[in-house]
Amino acid sequence: MDYRETSVWLPFTQMKTLPELPRVKSADGIMLELADGRRLMDCISSWWVTLHGHTQPEIVEAICQQARQLEHVICAGLIHEPAEKLADRLTGILPDNLNHVFYSDDGSTAVEVGLKMAFQYWKNQGIKSRTRFLAFEGAYHGDTLGAMSVSHRSVFTDAFGEMLFDVDFVPYPETFMTDSDPAATEAQALAVLSDFLDKYGDQYAALIIEPLIQGSGGMRMCRPEFLAKLRDQLAAYDILTIFDEVMVGFGRTGDLFACLKAEVTPDIICLSKGITGGFMPLAVTICTDAVYEAFYSDDPYKTLYHGHSYTANPLGCAAGLASLDLLESGQENFRRMEAWHHEGMKRLEGHPLLEKRRICGTISAMNIKDNQGPGYLSSIGPVIKKRFIEAGFLLRPLGNVLYILPPYCITKSQIDSVYACIRDVLNTL
Ligand SMILES: Cc1ncc(COP(=O)(O)O)c(C=O)c1O
Repeated sequence: MDYRETSVWLPFTQMKTLPELPRVKSADGIMLELADGRRLMDCISSWWVTLHGHTQPEIVEAICQQARQLEHVICAGLIHEPAEKLADRLTGILPDNLNHVFYSDDGSTAVEVGLKMAFQYWKNQGIKSRTRFLAFEGAYHGDTLGAMSVSHRSVFTDAFGEMLFDVDFVPYPETFMTDSDPAATEAQALAVLSDFLDKYGDQYAALIIEPLIQGSGGMRMCRPEFLAKLRDQLAAYDILTIFDEVMVGFGRTGDLFACLKAEVTPDIICLSKGITGGFMPLAVTICTDAVYEAFYSDDPYKTLYHGHSYTANPLGCAAGLASLDLLESGQENFRRMEAWHHEGMKRLEGHPLLEKRRICGTISAMNIKDNQGPGYLSSIGPVIKKRFIEAGFLLRPLGNVLYILPPYCITKSQIDSVYACIRDVLNTL
């Protein structure tokens, strides 16, 4: 198909080589309905945003009600109840000292705000030397320039190299179900961190990490134990920790938040994606009292000068509140999924094309062996994606990494059918 004439330019997409796209007409629960009448099971929660299921009636109703009352208003110089209520609810379920909520629109802006907050935190205290950042190999934090700077350098960032600031990258200690010595991998990562800290310890403003699971980098998983060790090393140098829970927040790891699961509280946490149940673009960057205090001043230069037209959009906040109700009352839906993944994975055990099987909460992932090499541009991804769609499943490998990240309404028999489909498709390769 020739896409030269089309008006929509898709993200992360080489339009010239794009095959004809399935057209989605509607959605309900876990199912997407295509314009040609076919139905697809959404096994990836759209772009990891759909929490409870598509067109979830309580959230639809909350948005409609809010739209009739107040659709949007500037959130500077004015405030509204949905923004206050959602901020209170979020700080109520997060660890105790994460108390101050800064709204933005998407995961990248949540990260951008987190980086700026951490940077200015030191400046506001008259400490000018803390200008460096630590991040992780394989990280993906978004597509704005700051978020790209703290992300792994890859095909995504290649064209923009000169625009990005320098960051020190630590290996992400990924572990697998069959990993016999995860502590050794963690020790290696911590040794690299230790070298950086020896050299520049008092120059770092913050370290940013996707806690427990790196998403776009290939659903790479680390253990909660690593986050505790990390916290201890950073504390010795007074370095702020930013948890990017944009993907893992709101139940994805089997607990409400990764920081709760790991019992490690960051100084700043970034949330988006699932925050509205997948209905509206909204994000928050939440910080501790100590960070907030550094900005709380009579000096206008100590203000956090950042904001967006749709900051704290009331429709998004209303969706967020309705989604939190469902999340809190239906915790069983995301807590039970890890056991289902283990059962499914067992059926794939020993498959000659698979390696590095891994599970954390509602997410499972595995690598497909690819003779032509792994990575995002692996040729195997597009081939199997097409076969999954033909079989009625929306699965979207990240290069040679195949993962399942379903909405929480998925049933046991549906998840079994996903694993059965994966086995069948792999057997055709
Ligand atoms: C961990 C993480 N941070 C940030 C982002 C960027 O979010 P957005 O695409 O909403 O800008 C993503 C998106 O996948 C993500 O997974």
